[in-house]
Amino acid sequence: MRKAERMKEFGTSVFSQLAAYKQSKISQGYDMIDLSIGSPDLPPPSFIRKTLAFYANNPDTYGYTLEGTHEFHEAVASYYEMNHHVSLNPNKEVACLMGSQDGLVHLPMAFANPGDVILVPDPGYTAYATGIAMAQAVPFFMPLRKENSFLPDLQAIPEEIAKRAALMFLNFPGNPVPALATESFFEEVIEFAKRYEIIVVSDFAYSELYYDGQKPISFLSIPGAKEVGVEMNSLSKSYNMAGCRIGYVCGNEQVIEVLTHFKSNLDYGVFLPIQKAAVAALTKGASFCEENRRIYQSRRDRFIDGLISMGWHVERPKASMFIWAEIPKGWTSVEFAYALMDRAHVVVTPGQAFGPNGEGFVRIALVQEEERLMQAVENMKKSGIFTG
Ligand SMILES: Cc1ncc(COP(=O)(O)O)c(C=O)c1O
Repeated sequence: MRKAERMKEFGTSVFSQLAAYKQSKISQGYDMIDLSIGSPDLPPPSFIRKTLAFYANNPDTYGYTLEGTHEFHEAVASYYEMNHHVSLNPNKEVACLMGSQDGLVHLPMAFANPGDVILVPDPGYTAYATGIAMAQAVPFFMPLRKENSFLPDLQAIPEEIAKRAALMFLNFPGNPVPALATESFFEEVIEFAKRYEIIVVSDFAYSELYYDGQKPISFLSIPGAKEVGVEMNSLSKSYNMAGCRIGYVCGNEQVIEVLTHFKSNLDYGVFLPIQKAAVAALTKGASFCEENRRIYQSRRDRFIDGLISMGWHVERPKASMFIWAEIPKGWTSVEFAYALMDRAHVVVTPGQAFGPNGEGFVRIALVQEEERLMQAVENMKKSGIFTG
């Protein structure tokens, strides 16, 4: 069968190779502990599930919604006001998405011509590359380096690249690097974006997963942000609703108008009961988020203490569900990930899967119960990998 040329851009990812290898180990009888996926293992709280079930049982909720309901837009606006002191016009500065992925992969189609540059973090979340490939744009990697607190160095972007850039993706707290942005960094971004007329896309999918009381900063809370960009947010991680496929974009009115127009040609909106469940989450979910953070923080601390006790000194993430762990010298991240699967029956993601600057690290997702995480530590301890 003849495939379109552009399919070459969508190669078999490291993720599917890992999944296949994990599956082969399972069929050989191994109990594999999967810490490779960024999907929450816990369910949404019962008030969200009940809302979804209640509306799903109503025969009048099955039509196309076309776009977000006014109630959903209002819920997003009041959530932003309450959590980030950002005021949004619910009619013009908010749009409903089928998961934030929907916005992330489609924005380049709406704003970049073939050959335009899109600035992306490296390592970065893989959906940015997908959107860039769909739009036939060109990525320019902004390295996230430990010595720069994993923030991109805007001064290092060559002038001719900045002039050709249509969009800049940012992701704090990030996947795979769980770094937090600072106000001064965002101020610098706004100035840069204004100078080169670049649209900034802040991916804030992990905004509710933060620890030690250090709340991540919304890009939109910085003066001038709305003039240059938007923020994508999601209910997937904050409320464990990943399978529901609901998220939203907020901020710059023109960007939202164009994206909404583009999407009106692609989809017919999110199922109404899911929007109702999302409204319940956004308006009544604060204490659940608090409890969810407690669970992840406790997992993080026990797991990292375990790793440190066996000699693997990894950094304790301040946010997100990931540990960005520097691997021992002498391994590539892919070799190391396969060795962990073979010798410890633990599945992690090699950093290289997220871009060239991911080499030397693996991403570990805290998506298992504490007992299972401690089992993973035990297996790693026995594997001999950390004793040379
Ligand atoms: C950084 C980041 N952004 C966005 C998404 C997409 O989330 P969703 O489409 O479920 O909202 C993910 C999912 O893993 C992610 O890690």
